[in-house]
Amino acid sequence: MWLVMFFLVISVFTCAAKAGLGANISDPCPSVCKCTPEAIIRCNRAGLSALPAEIAASTVSLNLSNNYLRILSPNAFGNLTSLHSLWLDGNSLSFLAPGTFLALGQLRELHLSGNSRLTSLHPNAFRGLRNLASLDLSHCRIFEIHPLLFSHLPSLERLDLASNNMRYVPRAFGNLSSLATLSLEGNHIEALGRDSLRDLEALYELNLRRNRIWIIQTGAFAKLLRLGVLNLGHNHIADLPNRLFDGLIQLKTLHLEANRLTGVGCAFRQLPNLRSLYLNNNQLSSISPSAFARLTKLRFLHLNKNNLSSLPARLLAQLPGLKHVFLAHNPWQCGCDLLWVSRRAASSGGTVEGLPCALRPGASAACPPPPELGPEDECGAADAGGTPGPHARPGRLLPAVVACLAWGLARSDASPAAF
Ligand SMILES: *[C@@H]1O[C@H](CO)[C@@H](O)[C@H](O)[C@H]1NC(C)=O
Ligand SMILES: *[C@@H]1O[C@H](CO)[C@@H](O)[C@H](O)[C@H]1NC(C)=O
Ligand SMILES: *[C@@H]1O[C@H](CO)[C@@H](O)[C@H](O)[C@H]1NC(C)=O
Ligand SMILES: *[C@@H]1O[C@H](CO)[C@@H](O)[C@H](O)[C@H]1NC(C)=O
Ligand SMILES: *[C@@H]1O[C@H](CO)[C@@H](O)[C@H](O)[C@H]1NC(C)=O
Repeated sequence: MWLVMFFLVISVFTCAAKAGLGANISDPCPSVCKCTPEAIIRCNRAGLSALPAEIAASTVSLNLSNNYLRILSPNAFGNLTSLHSLWLDGNSLSFLAPGTFLALGQLRELHLSGNSRLTSLHPNAFRGLRNLASLDLSHCRIFEIHPLLFSHLPSLERLDLASNNMRYVPRAFGNLSSLATLSLEGNHIEALGRDSLRDLEALYELNLRRNRIWIIQTGAFAKLLRLGVLNLGHNHIADLPNRLFDGLIQLKTLHLEANRLTGVGCAFRQLPNLRSLYLNNNQLSSISPSAFARLTKLRFLHLNKNNLSSLPARLLAQLPGLKHVFLAHNPWQCGCDLLWVSRRAASSGGTVEGLPCALRPGASAACPPPPELGPEDECGAADAGGTPGPHARPGRLLPAVVACLAWGLARSDASPAAF
């Protein structure tokens, strides 16, 4: 009993000592919050329905996440000119008054995710945030973004708009000349127009996973000369026109898994830096013999879970960087072509996984040596930009027309009059 008391007294003393040593006695700490000497104030999960009074003007980091805040008074953060990071995620904010953050010229990161009543934002909501580098607006219910909303954020590098209700790519990226990472994952986007992404010249990572994209206009990626990672997985893409990925000269990783692709033609010709290509979980049943011929840096190729029964003998020849090819869960029909494919992959140091026939004993004895590789290139015409390659579909005009229609529709029922 005495021992317990003793430890209690000791720990109370250590606490008091810590608080006294570091914190500035003249800086008040709101009673429901925890304040540290480094000017970090944590008021998260404190049941707050209004901002606590008396937050020290020297505060550098303020955590208000997971409370019940519904509105912020216009001058709520008027004194916090030293603030570097502000957490307002997991509240019930439905509106951000223009100029709410006007005084926060030093703010670097702003977290607003999980405010599920936030459906649209005033074009001046973010005025004053001239040093903001990271903005998280994910998991709200945003369906419309005003073209000028982000125009006050010249330093923005990271923008998260995942899991909202957007039906088209917002036309609001005009001034984001530093933006390196953009997520639009988990929205309801159906189309990428030629100009949807044209201003994002510094972009390195673009995440469009889990949307409903089925139309991409050729040229959509033409300005993304620095893009390293493009995620188009889990969409409704059925067709890859030949020049679709033009411009992506730095692209290293391309996700196209879980779409509705049935064939691969000559779309992957202009990707000289591609290392990982995800084509798994589609319905691929044919691949052009020259589909991957120019991907000299390709290391990982994912073709598992498709409808492939064979592969062209020359498909994986002359890919010196190849490390792993994933082929499991396809209805393979073992033949010499498949054996040659896996031998050629192996001769450049690559490992083929999930191809049952190549491992069958005696398989090689039944097949003649692979044929010499001729100079033929089924995609040559496609590269020249002239006649379409063998797998290109007719009627390229139709999707473009439909895209325009979808665009108009999306814009007309999302009324900008709300602003
Ligand atoms: C403590 O607060 C006073 C008055 O606001 C200020 O002059 C002083 O620099 C502060 N000291 C620290 C360590 O923050
Ligand atoms: C703020 O609080 C949330 C939990 O409510 C936590 O996940 C987050 O890491 C905190 N941020 C900081 C900087 O402490
Ligand atoms: C801001 O600081 C001034 C004095 O420096 C004070 O009168 C005012 O109440 C403060 N405002 C807030 C919102 O804390
Ligand atoms: C973009 O920034 C420039 C100056 O940096 C400014 O003149 C221009 O008005 C801004 N554009 C928008 C759409 O805000
Ligand atoms: C799988 O490919 C075969 C031709 O190889 C085709 O007849 C069949 O319809 C395809 N199945 C699916 C589900 O695409």
